Amino acid sequence: MIVVTGATGNVGRPLVQALAAAGEQVTAVSRGVSGGAVPEGVRHWQADLAAPESLRPVFDGADAVFLHDGGAGAHLLSPQGILDVAKAGGVRRVVLLSSQGVATRPRSSSHGAGGRSIEDAIRQSGMDWTILRPGGFASNTFAWAETIRTQRTAAAPFGDTGLPLIDPADIGEVAAAALREDGHAGQVYELTGPALSTPRQRAEAIGAALGEPIRFVEQTRDEARAQMLRFMPEPVVETTLAIIGEPTPAEQRISPDVERVLGRTPCTFAEWAVRNIAAFR
Ligand SMILES: NC(=O)c1ccc[n+]([C@@H]2O[C@H](COP(=O)([O-])OP(=O)(O)OC[C@H]3O[C@@H](n4cnc5c(N)ncnc54)[C@H](OP(=O)(O)O)[C@@H]3O)[C@@H](O)[C@H]2O)c1
Repeated sequence: MIVVTGATGNVGRPLVQALAAAGEQVTAVSRGVSGGAVPEGVRHWQADLAAPESLRPVFDGADAVFLHDGGAGAHLLSPQGILDVAKAGGVRRVVLLSSQGVATRPRSSSHGAGGRSIEDAIRQSGMDWTILRPGGFASNTFAWAETIRTQRTAAAPFGDTGLPLIDPADIGEVAAAALREDGHAGQVYELTGPALSTPRQRAEAIGAALGEPIRFVEQTRDEARAQMLRFMPEPVVETTLAIIGEPTPAEQRISPDVERVLGRTPCTFAEWAVRNIAAFR
C-alpha cells in the first residue's frame, strides 16, 4: 500500500490517479475532506502533517510514502516525527516533494534552508529515498483564472523572462515511478518542463486554448509584490520575485530528468493549458 500526503494538491491529485490506474492500493491524505479529488475506490484519510501521530493508523502495513514538504515557508512538516511513525508502520520507501530552490537559493529561509533540513532528515531515515526538486509549477498560472474568466486579462511582472515551468502531472508520474519501481533509491531528480516560457507567452497559450485573445498587463515589481503579500509570507514573496525576475542559469536550465525517468519529454506549458482550460473559461 502506498500513502500519498498532499493528496488533493496539484501534484498529489494526478499522483493518486496514476497509482490507482496502475492497480496500486493507495491511501490519500489531506487535512481537508477529499471533496471529490480522490478517485472512487481510493481510501481518503484526513490528517495534518504537523501532527505525525494522526498518521500512525495510515502507515500500518504501508510499503511506501509520498511526502510533500509542507509548502515553501510553511515549515509545518515535522519530518522526523513523520518518518518515525512511517518506519514503525513498516514503510521502507519514501519519495519527497522538495524544491529546486534548495539547490538554487540555499540562503533563502523560505525556499532553501527549511527544505534542506527536510531533505537531510529523509537522507538519514534509513529508508530507500528519492528526492524530487521541481522548479516552478505550470499550475501557479491558476492565479490568473479569475481575471481571465471575467476580463480576458492576465497581469504579471517580468513579462519577457522565461522559466521552464513543469506540469504537476509530470511530477506525479515521476513520483509514481519512484514509489513503484526499483532503481530510484538515492536519486535527486530535478524536474522542469521542456522549454522556457515567459508570462506573456503563457497568456498567449491560454488564449490559444480558449480560442480568444488574452490581454497581458505587465505589472511593476512593486505592484506584484503588494498583490503577492496578500496571500504569501514576505520571505516567500521576496524569493519568488527573485526567481521569476532574475532567475539564475540553473533555474533556466532544462533538466533531462523527467525524460530519464518516464522515457518521454515533459509536457509543454501549452499542453498544460489545453488540459486545464476549464479553469479559465
Ligand atoms: N508551486 C510551485 O511552483 C512549487 C515549486 C517547487 C516546489 N513546490 C512544492 O510543491 C508542493 C505543492 O505545491 P503547490 O503550490 O502546488 O500546493 P498545493 O497543490 O496547494 O498542495 C498542497 C497540498 O498539501 C496539503 N497540505 C498542506 N499542508 C498540509 C498539512 N499540514 N498536512 C497535510 N496536508 C497538507 C493540501 O491539502 P489540505 O489543505 O487539504 O491539507 C494540498 O493537498 C509544496 O510543498 C511546495 O513546496 C511548489
